[in-house]
Amino acid sequence: MKICIFGCGYVGLSAAVSLCKMGHSVYCIDKNDYRISNIEKGILDIYEPELSEGIIENIKQNKLSFSAKFKIQNDTDIFMITVNTPNNGKGEADISNVKDVLSQIIPSITKYSVIIIKSTVPVGSTKALFEEYKNKTSVNFDLVFNPEFLSQGSALYNFMHPQRIVIGSKSQRAIDIVKELYKSIDSKYIITDENSSELIKYASNSFLAVKISFINEIANLANATGCNIEDIKKGLEADERIGKHFLNAGIGYGGSCLPKDTSAIINMADKLKVDLNTIKAARITNENQKRRFISNIMKFYNYNIAGKVFAIWGLSFKPNTGDLREAPSNTIIDALTRYGANIKAYDPKAVNNAVKQLTSKEEALSEANALIVCTEWDEFKNPDFEFISNNLKDKVIFDARNIYINQDLSKFNLKYYCIGRLYE
Ligand code: UDX
Repeated sequence: MKICIFGCGYVGLSAAVSLCKMGHSVYCIDKNDYRISNIEKGILDIYEPELSEGIIENIKQNKLSFSAKFKIQNDTDIFMITVNTPNNGKGEADISNVKDVLSQIIPSITKYSVIIIKSTVPVGSTKALFEEYKNKTSVNFDLVFNPEFLSQGSALYNFMHPQRIVIGSKSQRAIDIVKELYKSIDSKYIITDENSSELIKYASNSFLAVKISFINEIANLANATGCNIEDIKKGLEADERIGKHFLNAGIGYGGSCLPKDTSAIINMADKLKVDLNTIKAARITNENQKRRFISNIMKFYNYNIAGKVFAIWGLSFKPNTGDLREAPSNTIIDALTRYGANIKAYDPKAVNNAVKQLTSKEEALSEANALIVCTEWDEFKNPDFEFISNNLKDKVIFDARNIYINQDLSKFNLKYYCIGRLYE
């Protein structure tokens, strides 16, 4: 099939490379011509494992092309919209980028077309957009909501191995075409109406946020009662009803989706006078979790950190991405610098121009008082503790991701603070 993708962020690009892998041919449009010319050279403004290699390979094989200007290719089977729908400042998702794209596609189509919206849009949007645009062409088209569940850092794998494919449409013709698109991958289908498919996306991300905040609160209690959250996690995940994923306690969730989508779903529900108290609580817990971590550091230093130097390992909101959006490291760095501390940071991929960033984790330790681990990149998991101990003036590690929770660091003369286990 021939697919036209609008929006070259991590969702659009991951979809493009994966669809090529499935045997389709893809052309991608993004209004940012600087981004397009870089992408064609394999230079991306995001880090996603194997993505730039996949782009280069498929361009070479003539399966993939890019343009900053939309010109319809007449044999296009499917249009796919993967533009961002950012928070509009009031907690709602702003769908104007989706509308801009539809305004380009609709007047150009000359035959029946299927347009897939993958961008996360408020419940009711797909139907409303269809009503708005159907009179702008004499040609038939269907607008289908087909959410993405791509996790940054494993987006290509997630696209090729979906746990479900949700199709929101009432048109059997469109549903059959979308199924044809994905026919080479093995997955469960959930076929539903447009509104329900939109809510599935928000509910999924909200559930993940609730799960993380739940385990973080239990971890705080474990800490206060002298328990070990890692053992409690084992006790929970053995129950299939609870499941084994998203039970890692830490400093809270970040990224472009969970914070934005929980805010948007609450906003939608509030307007309809429906209470989403669980999701609201999850958001409050998520904010408190960061404050709690900062206050533990402050307590250790008797509330005076002026002039102290903190080595920070990991800036991105999670490993295997360079994304700093809503990364807990931002909040920690802001607070520590506000109280007069200095930061020496290291991250394998993320770049934060607001801090002094070093080129290795070892360099970040030099002259530092303490180490803070903000992201659980693999390269931080088995460090040379002897080296850390010899370098840190105050011989203390604050571990926001519990990666050393089961180690005995006292033998290296290191003090250790994590989330969900008390060390005497
Ligand atoms: C999420 C959804 O998982 C994905 O399906 C959706 O399409 C986009 O949003 P992503 O934002 O890439 O993906 O990250 P995710 O893996 O969900 O992690 C979100 C945050 O939760 C990260 O900051 C991560 O560190 C944190 N997290 C995750 C925890 O604190 N504990 C966990 O157990 C899991």
